[in-house]
Amino acid sequence: MKILVTGGAGFIGSNFIHFVLQNTTDVSIVNLDALTYAGNLENLREWEGDSRYQFVHGNIIEKELVERLVSEVDTIVHFAAESHVDRSILNPEIFIQTNVLGTYVLLEAARKEGKRFHHVSTDEVFGSLASDEPSFTEKTPYDPRSPYSATKAGSDHLVNAYFHTYGLPVTISNCSNNYGPYHFPEKLIPLVITNLLEGKKVPVYGDGLQVRDWLYVEDHCQAIWQILQKGVLGATYCIGGNGEKENIWIVKRIIDLLKKDEASIEYVTDRPGHDRRYSIDFSKATRELGWQPTVSLEEGLEKTVHWYEENRSWWENVKSGAYKEYYNEQYGKRV
Ligand code: NAD
Ligand code: DAU
Repeated sequence: MKILVTGGAGFIGSNFIHFVLQNTTDVSIVNLDALTYAGNLENLREWEGDSRYQFVHGNIIEKELVERLVSEVDTIVHFAAESHVDRSILNPEIFIQTNVLGTYVLLEAARKEGKRFHHVSTDEVFGSLASDEPSFTEKTPYDPRSPYSATKAGSDHLVNAYFHTYGLPVTISNCSNNYGPYHFPEKLIPLVITNLLEGKKVPVYGDGLQVRDWLYVEDHCQAIWQILQKGVLGATYCIGGNGEKENIWIVKRIIDLLKKDEASIEYVTDRPGHDRRYSIDFSKATRELGWQPTVSLEEGLEKTVHWYEENRSWWENVKSGAYKEYYNEQYGKRV
């Protein structure tokens, strides 16, 4: 089987490529990535020169390129996106271009060729839960509240429309917050770990009592793989980590693991429209795919902290240059 992975140089996409190439012998991968600020070929250095792996530098909105690549593969697994909520608040336009238009270009190419299409989406499309509300399921109505989640919701609707209208063989997964190796340090967990390792403060938005469900990235990759093997065409699968925690709990646990001081915590201005709680009921994935997360939050956090301690040059490199401008723009206003 030959798979076109979009956004394979990013966090989850690169973990997925490692997962597939390490666990199969007869699958090859073409990785189409525009190498935005979030794309990093260092993540995949070990596969350079391997006959099962090919990198193509390009944008998913380039129609001709996308049509050619889609015609050469059996399946598309679509990760490429602008993925950070805070950046979508600063500049929504690129989110609409990549997440909505880019998905449309890929779907059109897949439609011409009748190719299998898996769309990687997010639980944020379902909106925000109060503490006493039941977890999101595949039947929860869409209620996106940030520019990022609105564009992901738009792309999900397009994927479903291509199933109903054209019979395109699609599946969608809506998953919770991933964490693990190669996570870009603009997101909470790697930002907290790397700031602490640099002796800096860690910014906590608002009261820090917002809840996220944390999913170790390898478990997410396993779920996508099982959807490709056993997923029902036209179906959506909610993928969660059994790891619901308040943000402040996560921050304090990382401080403990790194033997740092809680004086590093700095409460800052909240994110506008901040979703209070995400929670996922993944029982459909367990029932239909036999999937469930295998890495507990405790074990995953230890592994992740250890990875950032061991891979200092990776994140120091990522945090240099344009990242500094972004950090000052994002956090300068919040303190
Ligand atoms: P990321 O920001 O780390 O990586 C995105 C990748 O896409 C980068 O390599 C980037 O260069 C590439 N890219 C961006 N625009 C592109 C374009 N126009 N053409 C080609 N490549 C482009 O993102 P991530 O955290 O790995 O997320 C991957 C996918 O999973 C996204 O669709 C995101 O919405 C979804 N998702 C992420 C999470 C999470 O917790 N990170 C949770 C649920 C869903
Ligand atoms: O739920 C899935 C989503 O998880 C994905 O679709 C997104 O692509 C991914 O970025 C992630 O979105 P979040 O907004 O939940 O992740 P982030 O790491 O940005 O924030 C996690 C929580 O931590 C959130 O409540 C905001 C808070 N936070 C974040 C940062 C960066 C802070 O308190 N301080 C921070 O500095």
